[in-house]
Amino acid sequence: GKVAVLMGGQSAEREVSLMSGSGVLKALQSKGVDAHAFDPAERDLVELKRKGFQRCFIALHGRFGEDGTVQGALELLGIPYTGSGVMASSISIDKVMTKRVWLAEGLPTPKYTLLRRGAYTREQVRAVPDDLSLPLIVKPAREGSSIGVAKVHGYSEMAAAVEQAAALDADVLCEQFISGDEVTCPVIGTGDDARALPVIRIVAPEGNYDYQNKYFTDDTKYLVPCGLPKGEEEAIQEIVLKAYRVLGCRGWGRLDVMIDGKSRKPYLLEINTSPGMTGHSLVPMSARAAGVSYEDLCLHLLASASL
Ligand code: DAL
Ligand code: MG
Repeated sequence: GKVAVLMGGQSAEREVSLMSGSGVLKALQSKGVDAHAFDPAERDLVELKRKGFQRCFIALHGRFGEDGTVQGALELLGIPYTGSGVMASSISIDKVMTKRVWLAEGLPTPKYTLLRRGAYTREQVRAVPDDLSLPLIVKPAREGSSIGVAKVHGYSEMAAAVEQAAALDADVLCEQFISGDEVTCPVIGTGDDARALPVIRIVAPEGNYDYQNKYFTDDTKYLVPCGLPKGEEEAIQEIVLKAYRVLGCRGWGRLDVMIDGKSRKPYLLEINTSPGMTGHSLVPMSARAAGVSYEDLCLHLLASASL
């Protein structure tokens, strides 16, 4: 049947989604799938039904795509889609809600404080909040691709960082920076059948894995195999699987983790329920290391589409 690759959308990650979507579209078509691009920013999702689309591959990122809204619309239309359902998507898009779930389940995530746009005091952005220490990471609660993220090294940088994040989201997360190894690990499957793929270690220029270094420069190094001791890689895979399952995620996801350089303890940063599929993206890279081509990954994800 006809497949729609949902791409574009109206979030700040629109550009990234267009890159993900064109990769997925090409891959599915090369495997003989009757796949078509569909941009919800340009067309009403109701058209999917009228035009006879039978499944959707969601290659949207960020709000109105990765956050349960599109998933809810597809539920109403009765069209199976890739990835997590409404609840897991809407919790996972929100880094603060995600941390609350993980903490309640005893999973490690860096200490944080939440500032609300308009509700924080001058004192709060002049000092390091609560029991956190410098440096801090300040981010909008519901963005992706490092958009609006700042690393704060001194009190004087705090107000500007919070303001930048608050321009993108009313909820601003101030998180303890964990100095050490930056890694990411995809999970494929659902529930008891979910499996972690190989861990990738990310070595960005000056540790700055920002929007440019994610998608546009070739300065970031990706290590897979990750080069960590086997026990450490397995511990990460175990923890990301738990983190994925407690959120009730489905189909696939990618979890970003920091390993503390001193204690070697892993800390979960966030989960992406509609991970990037661009030429620089990490799920395809990890899958390839596990012997799965980009095309086969796309076919596998499409086959797992459900309601
Ligand atoms: N938010 C981007 C697309 C990612 O996590 O891959
Ligand atoms: Mg993300």
